Amino acid sequence: MKILAIETSCDETAVAILEARGDEKSARFTVLGNALLSQIDIHREYGGVFPALAKREHAKNLVPLLEAALEEAELLHEDTQALPDEARAKISEILAREPGLAEAFFEFVSECEPPAIDALAVTAGPGLEPALWVGINFAKALALTWGKPLVAVNHMEGHIMAALAKNEGEELMIEDVALPVLALLISGGHTELVVMKRWLEYTLVGQTRDDAVGEAFDKVARMLALPYPGGPEISRLAEEVRASGVRTSDFELPRPMIDSNSCDFSFAGLKTAVLYLLKDKPGVNEEEKKHIAREFENAVADVLWRKTSRALEETGAKTLVIGGGVSANRHIRRVFTEKMRTEHSGTALRIPPAALTTDNAIMIALAGFYRARREEFTGDPEANGNRPLA
Ligand code: KG4
Ligand code: ZN
Repeated sequence: MKILAIETSCDETAVAILEARGDEKSARFTVLGNALLSQIDIHREYGGVFPALAKREHAKNLVPLLEAALEEAELLHEDTQALPDEARAKISEILAREPGLAEAFFEFVSECEPPAIDALAVTAGPGLEPALWVGINFAKALALTWGKPLVAVNHMEGHIMAALAKNEGEELMIEDVALPVLALLISGGHTELVVMKRWLEYTLVGQTRDDAVGEAFDKVARMLALPYPGGPEISRLAEEVRASGVRTSDFELPRPMIDSNSCDFSFAGLKTAVLYLLKDKPGVNEEEKKHIAREFENAVADVLWRKTSRALEETGAKTLVIGGGVSANRHIRRVFTEKMRTEHSGTALRIPPAALTTDNAIMIALAGFYRARREEFTGDPEANGNRPLA
């Protein structure tokens, strides 16, 4: 099955085309085409993702990225296509709220053959709703024009599939996944533990009661006058001080809810603790910033580990996956790799390949494949900023 996936949930616009073979027990994927454009440089000025701007950028970039992905996949064949008036009117209506997109869309589809794909997949949440709608409307218009079925994909399921995928030569492979799978999902908008007892069926085990962990990274980075997105910046500073070998530090931060009797998290208090610490110490220097970054990262990793360990015991999970943008964090990866080996050696740990940790369309195609196999097609996906997995 050839599947074309579209991702626009936040500040990455991405289109990928995968060829998938196999079934739910064992599947192999070849990435035929992959085009991604990050808007980070545009949003950095605002210190965060600005939804109206994200929406405009997605609308501008989708057609060129689609063209690039099809071209790379050798699925782009020039031909003059006449769209019946009725279809044209319907598509104009679908794309009416995405400025400039309809014009670019018609120009593109009128000049190429419908590509030899079997299904389309699009992220339908969670994420920023205005951004999600651009991708959804674009996918709907393509499905209609090309007569292809469409599946709506949960962005977090995409992160889980990316974590389950292993690089195998040129291919990605998802097989021998021992259930139950516990997923620790850590991103800019999410911090949750979910268990997949049966394939694609999820139950929530724990979640943050306030800030998401990526959000805490980004806010603390801002307090330290570091650029957006703050996660990688904090990580860079923390790694520098670790590499220097200096172990002592004047800074001590709390580990919120670490001993509480649940798998829930709280990161707002940790963020506020950094705020107070900086109030007490005006004019913090570069060296001190590094120490604060390290202590913050240590506190986050301690809490994430303790809650995950508890959830592993509660659920009897045989596989642990870590997904979402924060799973790129080197310290968190190290702590989890080490602790799994020493404390939960009977449980497999799966972390996404580095290129698949932050948002991309390959992960949406992976999840889309399973949804398409189950024929969960929809003509009318809805954006849901808070779309739950469980
Ligand atoms: O999954 P993602 O790309 O987008 C969302 O769905 O939110 O996650 C983005 C988040 C941001 O908060 C960013 O600061 C964080 O992931 N992040 C990191 C690292 N790389 C990205 N946080 C800590 N360490 C990193 N290396
Ligand atoms: Zn994400």
